[in-house]
Amino acid sequence: MATHSVVYSEGSLHGLPSFPDESNLTNLTALVTGANGISGYHLVRVLAANPKRWSQIYCLSRRSPPDNFFEDLGEAATRVKHIAVDFLSKPAQIAERLKENVQKIDHVFFFSYMQTQQKGSVLEMWSDASALAEVNSKLLSNFLDGLRLTSLQPKRFLLQTGAKNYGFHMGPATNPSFESDPRVTLEDNFYYPQEDALAKYCEETGAAWNVVRPSYIIGAVRDGALNFMIGLAIYGAIQSYLKKPLDFPGDYAAWDREFCQSTALLNAHFEEWAVLTDKAGNEAFNIHDGQSFTWGRFWPYLASWFGIPWNPPEADSSKFRIWAHWNNSFNVQSPGVV
Ligand SMILES: NC(=O)c1ccc[n+]([C@@H]2O[C@H](COP(=O)([O-])OP(=O)(O)OC[C@H]3O[C@@H](n4cnc5c(N)ncnc54)[C@H](OP(=O)(O)O)[C@@H]3O)[C@@H](O)[C@H]2O)c1
Repeated sequence: MATHSVVYSEGSLHGLPSFPDESNLTNLTALVTGANGISGYHLVRVLAANPKRWSQIYCLSRRSPPDNFFEDLGEAATRVKHIAVDFLSKPAQIAERLKENVQKIDHVFFFSYMQTQQKGSVLEMWSDASALAEVNSKLLSNFLDGLRLTSLQPKRFLLQTGAKNYGFHMGPATNPSFESDPRVTLEDNFYYPQEDALAKYCEETGAAWNVVRPSYIIGAVRDGALNFMIGLAIYGAIQSYLKKPLDFPGDYAAWDREFCQSTALLNAHFEEWAVLTDKAGNEAFNIHDGQSFTWGRFWPYLASWFGIPWNPPEADSSKFRIWAHWNNSFNVQSPGVV
């Protein structure tokens, strides 16, 4: 049987989901963990823009969101409450914070994430997989244990993981990836114990789950360390200040490589749709913006935003350095036009 959905556009975003004006879709309460991070912040923006649907939004993280977080929400800020909680503390302490502040939860969105101290350069950021797995599994399992100690009973629990689920951080992976693809067990991966802990919680409590797996995320937020656009913008700003062209810091293989990204605001619209759609319950979803691009296509735009000329890759390969990384599992000819 054919099904129909009404979609709408807002600014540069198109095909956004709309929802019927039904009583089960009004006066909802959301709990967003990691709300001052890149994913959580944009989700709060999307939910807060619908006062009839979302009457209360609880945001959990250790630090308060910055002032502009609330200022930018305008009158919607009155429906958004921040609760300072450290998910590395004991579940009983997390439960206490929840009991003190939260009366009801309809839907949970989990975006908490900790980057462990990395060894070596930024390219080694995923190299200590066991440490990442240990700390990030704890964030979720402590929170779930804390929830169990309260009478709060969400209908849906959405966990955001990502493309590392398929091993893209270790090297090339099968493309397109399917949500049903087997796990990559070459090293620890925190997404797997997180998914297992969530499945167990949902089995015990009757809540439905979602796992959403975006690609590289972009979006403006304080401390957005994982947003590669920040580095590119800083490079553009410096070249512009120095009145130099935007040289491409890679080779032609990189210039022509297809790349995709997942805009945080678009992810947020998708994630709201996922929890509000009954048929999407207990499903994992890969998501990205839907239009692949190459750096060669992007580079002239970046240069134009800074009003500077640009250069394609350096053709003389003797000017490149070869860097071995990712546990030496493969070599990458990359940044470093010297
Ligand atoms: N960013 C990307 O490009 C990307 C791409 C694909 C998938 N993902 C995945 O998406 C998920 C969310 O990542 P993100 O990039 O949105 O995260 P993020 O921007 O780094 O935000 C992480 C959030 O977690 C909170 N947090 C950190 N430690 C905490 C603790 N001990 N207790 C409570 N809260 C804590 C942080 O706030 P406080 O520091 O104030 O506590 C912050 O709000 C992760 O699984 C990540 O792997 C990210």
